[in-house]
Amino acid sequence: MKLAIRTTRITPSPTLQLSATVKALVAQGQQIFDFTAGEPSFDSPDAAKSAAITAIQEGFTKYTAVTGIDDLKNAIIDKFQAEQGLPYTRSQILVSCGAKHTLFNLALALFEAGDEVIIPAPYWVSYPEQVLVADAAPVFLPTEESADYAIDLDKLKAAITSRTKAVILNSPCNPTGGIYHKDTLEGVAKLALERNFLLISDEIYEKMIYDNHQHVSIASISPEVAKQTIIVNGVSKTYAMTGWRIGYAAGPEPLMKAMGDIQSQSTSNPTSIAQKAAIGALRGGQDFVQTMVRELDVRRTTMVKGLNAISGIHCPMPAGAFYAFPNIKGLLGRRFRGTSLSSPFAVAEFLLKEAKIACVPGEPFGGETHLRFSYTPTLEVIHQGLNSLAEAVARLE
Ligand SMILES: Cc1ncc(COP(=O)(O)O)c(C=O)c1O
Repeated sequence: MKLAIRTTRITPSPTLQLSATVKALVAQGQQIFDFTAGEPSFDSPDAAKSAAITAIQEGFTKYTAVTGIDDLKNAIIDKFQAEQGLPYTRSQILVSCGAKHTLFNLALALFEAGDEVIIPAPYWVSYPEQVLVADAAPVFLPTEESADYAIDLDKLKAAITSRTKAVILNSPCNPTGGIYHKDTLEGVAKLALERNFLLISDEIYEKMIYDNHQHVSIASISPEVAKQTIIVNGVSKTYAMTGWRIGYAAGPEPLMKAMGDIQSQSTSNPTSIAQKAAIGALRGGQDFVQTMVRELDVRRTTMVKGLNAISGIHCPMPAGAFYAFPNIKGLLGRRFRGTSLSSPFAVAEFLLKEAKIACVPGEPFGGETHLRFSYTPTLEVIHQGLNSLAEAVARLE
């Protein structure tokens, strides 16, 4: 069988693959300290669960409007208005089956052969793959750990060409935890207006922000900038609702319509029950989020302190999201039983075998000397995992 060329351009999600490997090892009875998960370990809020139960009991179990039900769109509109002062109408909102699906619809509706899409690196693994599926070319814009992964505006300027269709922003960022400050975003927005490219702002980690940092949406800079911005968000991370699969976009009406048309020929509507659950989460009390973020903050500092206590590992304190992204340059080239650990992949493999620690190697994120540790597991697991990590590293030659 000859598969379509496009299948040769993409690699499957390494994070989901790793999670599957870990689940299989656990099923075999092995105890694994699992730091791969891109999801909070907390339960979804009661408001979401009871809204879903009511939906089932009331028979809200049929097809809905493809682009999402009005009540959910209204809840999303109210959120944007209240939190960012952004006025959207329902035709500017598209609800999809998770933010990954939102971004996929966006890539298919917007990009084509000849287009370039600028992606600051390190980046979330799916951005370049989705750009490639849409026949366009990802252009990586390196950012530096020493500059808190901020975008260097001169470097951005140099990367823009007449083919630049969009820049993908992800603040807070998976995997670095870096956030973009207002002055940087203003600089990026100015370039977008001058050079006429779109801004795709993935704000899925907007609520996971620590140490008095602030989340700023680039769309809130001015109405002109908002017109050139597509905000992507969802309930997965903020409400620990990864399995419910609800994501959404807000942006220019013609683009939302085109994305909706694509969705109408693929998934149809997002699950009816999950849409009701998302309304429950968005309209319910928001204490849930604060409590979760407070707890994540404790896990963050514990994880980062523990990583920095291990010789050969250096980990900056992430300002947002729920990932530690340590630099493991000091471990590369060290040996275990005669074999050199020459890459993050090799280190991650060693840790899984010898320390029962699952983490994600940095390469698929564009982090050539890094590992990604999700600090969403409980403090107990974090402490045990760090001990096991320290012991394993001590065994390296
Ligand atoms: C940066 C980023 N964007 C989008 C997503 C997709 O989230 P979901 O499809 O669960 O809404 C993720 C999930 O890991 C992510 O890390």
